[in-house]
Amino acid sequence: MTILVLGGTGKTGRRIADRLTARGLPVRIGSRSGVPAFDWQDRTTWGPALDGVSAVYLSYYPDLAFPGAYDDVKAFTEVAVSTGVRRLVLLSGRGEPEAQASERTVQGSGAEWTVLRCSWFMQNFSEDFLLGAVLDGVIALPAADVPEPFVDVDDIADAAVAALTEDGHAGRLYELTGPRLLTFAEVADELSKATGRQISFVRLTPEEYLAAAMAHGVPEEAAHGLAHLFTEILDGRNASVADGVRQALGRPARDFTAFAAAAAQAWVLPS
Ligand SMILES: NC(=O)c1ccc[n+]([C@@H]2O[C@H](COP(=O)([O-])OP(=O)(O)OC[C@H]3O[C@@H](n4cnc5c(N)ncnc54)[C@H](OP(=O)(O)O)[C@@H]3O)[C@@H](O)[C@H]2O)c1
Repeated sequence: MTILVLGGTGKTGRRIADRLTARGLPVRIGSRSGVPAFDWQDRTTWGPALDGVSAVYLSYYPDLAFPGAYDDVKAFTEVAVSTGVRRLVLLSGRGEPEAQASERTVQGSGAEWTVLRCSWFMQNFSEDFLLGAVLDGVIALPAADVPEPFVDVDDIADAAVAALTEDGHAGRLYELTGPRLLTFAEVADELSKATGRQISFVRLTPEEYLAAAMAHGVPEEAAHGLAHLFTEILDGRNASVADGVRQALGRPARDFTAFAAAAAQAWVLPS
């Protein structure tokens, strides 16, 4: 039986698909570029993507906290269970009421479930929307001086693979964080050390951030969603470390310094 990895070309999904494939397990990439294609915006693609699937890594796009996510996850979960999926592993976000609503849907689905409730990803700085800022040397965000326990996506992938392939993780909610709280200013210091260049953090007002994001081509709705994550979610509610990585994997979570050393190639400037 096949394991469907939604977002299987993204930060978490790509790593999970690689790990499962390396173990010789049958994997299907669930994304618009998968075969068959899977598109959250086109529900007629869901059934073909689920054909013959026994377990799903369920990561939503663009974000589980954005409007519409809950309805999509609820509908997808119902289709998945009705077509024979027996195990669901949900990628969720910490301190996000909208994401927690989707968690409850998966928990009540009748399938074996595992929730990976994650803090902010370290790889946002090396593979995603903050990479450009690091390359520019200025991380400008509407984030207060509130620390966040950034988590390494490789830890999420290891936990997801364990939950998809091993016994003992069904019915578990793992809060996956890194081992250390860091403010964005402290992240900038870490990145300065890793790159050998000065990376600064500049605090913007939400209005300044919205204007800058849209000027850089971020669609208005997505810009508002990001501003929401930086302001309402980063209000201190998540300013604590959790031991989900140790619970799931029996080892400590990877530290930001080790991540930055390993990811340094991403920040090499073009010559
Ligand atoms: N970033 C964080 O700090 C953080 C923290 C906690 C939780 N999360 C959660 O992480 C999730 C995102 O996971 P990720 O960061 O691993 O992914 P990602 O790196 O953002 O990659 C997005 C994936 O989704 C696919 N995709 C894009 N549009 C799609 C569509 N319309 N239908 C189906 N697939 C689509 C992309 O592939 P194609 O282009 O081939 O379609 C790609 O595989 C979000 O739900 C977010 O809430 C993020």
